[in-house]
Amino acid sequence: MELQGKTAVVTGGASGIGLATARQLASSGMNLVLGDIESEPLFAALEGLRSEGANAIGVVGDVSKEADVLALRDAALAEFGTAHVIFNNAGVGGGPAIGTPKKVWDWVMGVNVDGVINGINAFVPIFLEQNEGHVVNTGSLAGLGGVPGMGAYCASKFAVVGISECLFHELQLSGKNVGVSALCPGFVRTRIHESHRNMPDELVNYTEKPATKAATGFASAAVNAGIDASEVAIAVETAIRNRLFWILTHEHAAIRTTEQRAAWMAGGPPPGINLEKATKP
Ligand SMILES: NC(=O)c1ccc[n+]([C@@H]2O[C@H](COP(=O)([O-])OP(=O)(O)OC[C@H]3O[C@@H](n4cnc5c(N)ncnc54)[C@H](O)[C@@H]3O)[C@@H](O)[C@H]2O)c1
Repeated sequence: MELQGKTAVVTGGASGIGLATARQLASSGMNLVLGDIESEPLFAALEGLRSEGANAIGVVGDVSKEADVLALRDAALAEFGTAHVIFNNAGVGGGPAIGTPKKVWDWVMGVNVDGVINGINAFVPIFLEQNEGHVVNTGSLAGLGGVPGMGAYCASKFAVVGISECLFHELQLSGKNVGVSALCPGFVRTRIHESHRNMPDELVNYTEKPATKAATGFASAAVNAGIDASEVAIAVETAIRNRLFWILTHEHAAIRTTEQRAAWMAGGPPPGINLEKATKP
């Protein structure tokens, strides 16, 4: 896809991978519509991008709410006439498979899975109608293999990868000029380990439990050892331009995880988990 003068919508655009990708796409001449649940970081991000010359607007909203994602779409249509890229990127971390309250599972699945579904439902009809567009869904290495301590997060990211694969096949069958990518990074230096900042108020007690604090501390060390978000942004742009399905910024770990799962299915030993390997490209 040629990007100059086209419009990209980025959810979770106020921080981390979303903001870095917005900056990357703006440098290639795309208009931006950023969505985020955090208003102050969103406005600060917009100010920064505009000062670098970007044509950018923002909408505060929660991707788990269909109406908020439709409002994001409507803002794109009102400002730029249409949209060509939806980057379903907003996401949050969650708790382990054992002991995570159902309400925390619901929050993680709501943001990470419903957010992607809402983005697809809002934008893919437009892309099909205009016979041009690209969807990028943010999965994770945690969507390619189970990881201890990340039950809710893995469940949500496996769902994102599954939805993306199905969408790929459906778009192929449609014969339309619309593509989809599944972004599955390992650790990236962002604020993902501070996801609880956006937890609904009634769940805040959960973040104060010692087990949650320990898991957050562990995750922050791995995240801080990760790659720079600008590297992910370049990979996302390359995938949009060249219509690549898999965006594997940590390719070695992604392939190794997948091979180990296949060997396990064929009767071999369960995969060994080495999170340090997921910090390196
Ligand atoms: N950082 C990593 O190591 C890593 C690895 C694999 C996948 N990911 C995925 O990358 C994506 C981006 O995360 P990041 O690492 O940049 O973290 P981040 O916390 O820096 O950015 C996430 C953004 O999403 C926003 N957000 C959270 N809940 C929202 C909601 N309900 N509605 C709208 N916006 C919301 C946050 O305010 C924030 O601006 C997530 O889907 C995450 O799961 C991150």
